[in-house]
Amino acid sequence: MGKLDGRVALVTGAARGIGAASAALLAAEGARVAVCDINEADGKQLAESIGGTFYRLDVTDENDWADAAAGISSDLGPVTVLVNNAGVGTGGTIRDTTTRDWHRVMAINVDGPFFGMREVSPQMAEAGGGVIVNVSSVAGLVGSPGIAAYSASKWALRGLTKVAALEFADDNIRVLSVHPGVVRTPITDSDFMRERVRNRPIPRQGEPEELAKMVLFCVADATFSTGSEFVADGGHATGSINRG
Ligand code: NAI
Repeated sequence: MGKLDGRVALVTGAARGIGAASAALLAAEGARVAVCDINEADGKQLAESIGGTFYRLDVTDENDWADAAAGISSDLGPVTVLVNNAGVGTGGTIRDTTTRDWHRVMAINVDGPFFGMREVSPQMAEAGGGVIVNVSSVAGLVGSPGIAAYSASKWALRGLTKVAALEFADDNIRVLSVHPGVVRTPITDSDFMRERVRNRPIPRQGEPEELAKMVLFCVADATFSTGSEFVADGGHATGSINRG
């Protein structure tokens, strides 16, 4: 028997990376998983491999959210697990960041989870409750020079998580934020990024599966937590060790 038998989970940005690993683990625990992404080819493939269902959902589009929420609820049942994972990063100091990049990062990383919580929480409440996991970042816990828009977006998501935890408390909906450090994905799989974690307490990149376990813990086991931060960052937010 799985920890999530009978539950319906909507995971955004689920075609690859942390989202794909989370979708796979939730499915392995018995959830019916809606694999949501704009990347149709990889999303469909992932959905097929884990026994989930693919839905095209651009998290920046509130109409897509309305269609997905209604479609998933009618196809699979009411969504009681929402993982707002889709996110993008962009480099740039405050002085370097263009207005266009600023708005693009905010649209995906902040508008997306906002639309998602606004659209999906009513059906969760109607179903008697649920869990929302917002994937922020260690950049939402500490100041991160050089990634101004990304860091601001992840702090915003951490704050929005706390608002949601309070607003949805009486609907029996827990809302948590997960804060990954550098995780090995095609984008971070470079000597430059490996070098960046050398002085962290745990001097390696995380694996998507390690974050998926944290997401599952939040959904299934963290039953006395809401509004809280769950950190899997190799110790990054704690500090650095000078290894020379
Ligand atoms: P990734 O880049 O491997 O995958 C992101 C997925 O989101 C892709 O499948 C992409 O198609 C999808 N996506 C992008 N824009 C979208 C949109 N508008 N609507 C729907 N889907 C969209 O990302 P990764 O590395 O797995 O990151 C997942 C989350 O974890 C993000 O929120 C990211 O900010 C966060 N994170 C990642 C870290 C890392 O080192 N990989 C570190 C800290 C946080």
